[in-house]
Amino acid sequence: MRPISRRSALLVGGLGAAATAAGGAGLWWTASSRFSPIAGADFTEPDALHSTNGGLQVRLEAAPGSIRLGGHQASVLGYNGGVPGPTLHLRGGDVLQIELVNSLAVPTNLHVHGLHVSPQGNGDNVFVVVQPGRSFSYEYSLPADHPPGIYWYHPHHHGVVADQIFAGLFGTIIVEDTDPPATSRDRIMVISDITLDGSGSVAGASPMDRMIGREGRLVLVNGHSNPKLSARPGERERWRIVNTCVARYLRLRLDGQQMQLLGMDSGRFPTPKPVDELLLTPGNRADVLVTAIEGESAFRTMYYNRGSMAGMMGPAPLGPSSGDAGDTVLATLSVSGTTSGAPLPVPAQPAPADLRTAVVAAHRQLTLGVGGLGVGTGMMSFTINGRVFNASRTDTVVAAQTVEEWTLLNPSPMDHPFHLHVWPMQVVEESGTAPDTIAWRDVVNVPANGQVKVRINFEEFTGRSVYHCHILDHEDQGMMGVVEVR
Ligand code: C2O
Ligand code: CU
Ligand code: CU
Repeated sequence: MRPISRRSALLVGGLGAAATAAGGAGLWWTASSRFSPIAGADFTEPDALHSTNGGLQVRLEAAPGSIRLGGHQASVLGYNGGVPGPTLHLRGGDVLQIELVNSLAVPTNLHVHGLHVSPQGNGDNVFVVVQPGRSFSYEYSLPADHPPGIYWYHPHHHGVVADQIFAGLFGTIIVEDTDPPATSRDRIMVISDITLDGSGSVAGASPMDRMIGREGRLVLVNGHSNPKLSARPGERERWRIVNTCVARYLRLRLDGQQMQLLGMDSGRFPTPKPVDELLLTPGNRADVLVTAIEGESAFRTMYYNRGSMAGMMGPAPLGPSSGDAGDTVLATLSVSGTTSGAPLPVPAQPAPADLRTAVVAAHRQLTLGVGGLGVGTGMMSFTINGRVFNASRTDTVVAAQTVEEWTLLNPSPMDHPFHLHVWPMQVVEESGTAPDTIAWRDVVNVPANGQVKVRINFEEFTGRSVYHCHILDHEDQGMMGVVEVR
């Protein structure tokens, strides 16, 4: 574990501004002075911690600090002084113990996004509140057959989730596969966005930002703006990509080189799928094999239209109005040198579970709602089945060890990425058509005026947990419900 001294030394000076941003309300950004990032640094990765003998113990301190982002010192929030926090490498059957230390000025807590672990007690329990100055010991026991994949951790205290993640609190969890493909190198790519003012402090969100979901003006890979990567022709790399952005959809391309998808969110496909473009909604992850061909390629995210509030708020389209106007280069890959030998074939994986023929114990509908302007408040309401989140109310009761089919309806004019904790979802129908492959996700995009059907096997764990929109501004405003499995 990293000694605390470095972080403490960096803390001086950054505390006030970051603490204000973390508090959230009130402050918002005016375009008076712009923070311009320094692009082109060498690619680096967060610190890596590996489990040994079936366990990993980590102390994670959430604290404000002055941390290097986009080539400048910025007053942000970090875990153990880093943005992203350390990467935790686990295996199926491991026990992960995290002591979360809250050195923020406001409450926080921790969620392990995508892990199939118990939501009870000191497990993946989002109802836990860790007050400023306090700590809490989480313990997560992974089943021996836990799917390999890319997961991540982030705060989940209702009302401040978007503020805390936007300000820098996130990190990656890898569950290693038993049969990894041979690669020249593996990289973790945590993609985040943030808006900093001229003095390097985190910008607050305006009411409009909160309504459409804030998109930061800086889009970073492991805290860098357009870092440089290099490889030799023929080399194969594994890129594990995480979208930690509060609201930004990533439409990823790497023209000129070859991408093959090994898996999405959790698990691996039986064989890799060649792809030109990859859509990651907030919260999604992609496990990608990149084969270097030649020349210099921009790893880019393209503009994605996630709807508009036309007819509700005027014609402003989402996305560019609060972020960049078009494509953004995330990183630059230069391929040169002597050609490397052809990589070994990727070992085939067993077919994933398929619930399409399962016995369905219950069918439910969940409607993601964006309400009209409340008279006198000037704010929209964000609901599921007409209700805003209430932690003490249980919205959905599920019988343990059964399969359910949920129809996710979105009558609103903007997309909502729907996320369920603990139990992954198999997409069985998207806007009227069945996918041609077995598609497991823990965040599923429900397009504007569209619907998606998913099936869920509520196996292994019981207890209360949540589902919500992963545009975290929407979640904070109430687009979340409680599910109890018993
Ligand atoms: Cu990534 Cu409930 O969250
Ligand atoms: Cu989650
Ligand atoms: Cu939403």
